[in-house]
Amino acid sequence: MAVIDVMGLTKKYGSRHPTAALRDVDLRVEEGTVLGLLGENGAGKTTLIKMLAGLLVPDHGSGRVLGYDLLRESRAIRASVSLVAPTADVGLDNNLTVRQNLVFWAPIYGLYGAHARRRIDELLDRLGLREKEHAWPMHISAGQRQRLALARSLLAENRLVFLDEPTNKLDAEGVRSVRTLIADLNRQHGVTIVLTTHVMEEAEELCTEIALLHAGALIRHAETRALVRSLNEERPIEVELAQGSAMPALRPQSFPGAVRVDVKRASGGSGVLLTIWSRDIPSTTPAVVEFVRSQGLEVRRMTSERLTLDDVFRLAARPVGEDDR
Ligand SMILES: Nc1ncnc2c1ncn2[C@@H]1O[C@H](COP(=O)(O)OP(=O)(O)OP(=O)(O)O)[C@@H](O)[C@H]1O
Ligand SMILES: [Mg+2]
Repeated sequence: MAVIDVMGLTKKYGSRHPTAALRDVDLRVEEGTVLGLLGENGAGKTTLIKMLAGLLVPDHGSGRVLGYDLLRESRAIRASVSLVAPTADVGLDNNLTVRQNLVFWAPIYGLYGAHARRRIDELLDRLGLREKEHAWPMHISAGQRQRLALARSLLAENRLVFLDEPTNKLDAEGVRSVRTLIADLNRQHGVTIVLTTHVMEEAEELCTEIALLHAGALIRHAETRALVRSLNEERPIEVELAQGSAMPALRPQSFPGAVRVDVKRASGGSGVLLTIWSRDIPSTTPAVVEFVRSQGLEVRRMTSERLTLDDVFRLAARPVGEDDR
């Protein structure tokens, strides 16, 4: 069942010099998906999320979220979804402790008594807030406030959760616990999640699908695996060998995933530069390391390119039909 099914969503902000924040966006998301919305600052991610959560009315377009009409039943949508904005911590009550904030909200989300206590304990533990449960929100760090805002929204146990940059202020530990929580919500409870992030690695780890927004337009929506596969076509591993190294005889067949090998003099130096083009960097890299070691070659530098958001956009903007082979 599609929990999100919208067509032609368009939004312009301002009347004097209107900026098109969203242009004609169609989006369909099946239940149980973790969808990552990626795009540069100002691409329209937050605008789209607010619209899907029933907080912002489109200028044009229509559709349904959880079966409710986007235009006529936005109230019901707002009551049925969770949304955690990057500024959600602003809404915390500073006259209540961390725990009291959650106790206050629990009945509003329909949680009472022992059930509420269990859920609050679980969220405090999982988000690393147990030590701070009796602290005041203004006395905890920005990242801890963000975790508290997340805990508050997740009290609701909704089937559809929107997370706008859920890990942006968090330290490594916080990133790990929030990512695990997101994955568990999805796998154990079947919650559908739409999140935004600027971290490609996060999208790759968590999301089953990725949608790319660029200047208000949805330029690509694909399964993460298919997208990453299409991006991973022929990427270089470079190995620079020290001065005086003999040119080794190399064949791509020596390395799993490799398609081509170039050997030339390193620019400006007297060393040798090997470039191994691979369609499967994770398999090729260890074989290259093993080769270099077994030949006793002296390596000056070895680099293998990692995907960046820039690559995603460069490749995603290619004409239709060139990818998804
Ligand atoms: N309330 C507003 N009034 C006027 N313009 C707005 C408003 N909110 C957003 N915009 C504009 O709409 C466009 C899309 O903004 P949006 O916040 O959706 O981007 P985003 O993809 O979430 O970016 P970021 O990665 O920075 O969070 C931008 O050009 C932004 O300046
Ligand atoms: Mg945003």
